[in-house]
Amino acid sequence: MKRPFAMLAATGHAVPKRVLRNDEFVGMGIDTSDEWIRERTGIRERHIAGEGETLTSISAEAARLAMKRAGVTASELDVIILGTASPDRLLPATAVEIQAALGATRAVAFDIDAACSGWLYGIQIAEGLLATGGYETILVIGGEQLSRIVNWKDRNTCVLFGDGAGATILKKSTKGRGILSAYMRSDGTLADLLHRPKGGCLAPVTPEIIADGSHLLTMAGREVFKNAVRSMADASDRALDGAKLSAADIDLMIPHQANIRIIEATAKHANIPMEKVYVNVDRFGNTSAASIPIALSEAQEQGLIKEGSTVMFVAFGAGFTWGSMVVRF
Ligand code: UT7
Repeated sequence: MKRPFAMLAATGHAVPKRVLRNDEFVGMGIDTSDEWIRERTGIRERHIAGEGETLTSISAEAARLAMKRAGVTASELDVIILGTASPDRLLPATAVEIQAALGATRAVAFDIDAACSGWLYGIQIAEGLLATGGYETILVIGGEQLSRIVNWKDRNTCVLFGDGAGATILKKSTKGRGILSAYMRSDGTLADLLHRPKGGCLAPVTPEIIADGSHLLTMAGREVFKNAVRSMADASDRALDGAKLSAADIDLMIPHQANIRIIEATAKHANIPMEKVYVNVDRFGNTSAASIPIALSEAQEQGLIKEGSTVMFVAFGAGFTWGSMVVRF
């Protein structure tokens, strides 16, 4: 496969209607403040799914927008890949529910669990599938309902996350557009720093587990922070090296939106000024696998990406998983 082989033809996003502002946590009995959350994370508000808003419905909404923008119909989809850490059900994959919702009868559909790197991993898997010659049009979604798996009594985590979905249509490259370089890494030795300790097959859910909340997300924030900064710095170097480009060639950087301080550190390391970094963590919080495609969709809506623009993506998440990509649009 000679790059660019696959291009990101179009992206769409969708988020739940309800906006939860920082100052509302105090009324929920959580010992925090708008000031602490803004200063330590850059987050002001996030979207939280309400009644009837599921991962399937939000993801399908994002997918329909991406398909409309790409001029693709449901029957043309060959594959649907959903990156998520918060599926609607543990079995089957939420991707098949999205397939049914879209009426994409021909599509092969499956989930991947790479946490916040889910969309980035999904795009790279899709590129490989396109290269087999067996598929032409692939839908890659990053979608989350993290509000359903956070511990609403734990101030260390509940203020950080939000719900939403972003969806991208991948097709074979034309006119030199597409993925110029791609990089993926994992390190399972650090899995316990950001995880859901119980509730899986290792420790099936019991009333005690429900009572102590050990089936919910828990994070060693400071350790995750350090690893995120280190790994995203390395990933940004790899992306540029792989594309044989320098920082000056990058028109826009779209990093995973977990914390403004991590974003700033990554941009500083990569030598990319903040004016060229897309930031929406203030409005959405950390939406894990959905964060990069939501940001990409918004950046395109705002006209920040033109034909020929070179964009760098950098992700990091539970696992740990991380990676990067440089794409010419
Ligand atoms: O998407 C996957 C990757 N995830 C991330 O990248 C998240 C990475 N981690 C972070 O973004 C940051 O580590 C946090 C935002 C989670 C925490 O910021 P921090 O500057 O690392 O704070 P800390 O964990 O060191 O905690 C500082 C203090 C603690 O109090 P003491 O022990 O110093 O008395 C915490 O208990 O802040 C306290 N604290 C809070 N205070 C008010 C923690 N959460 C809150 C809160 N409100 N919500």
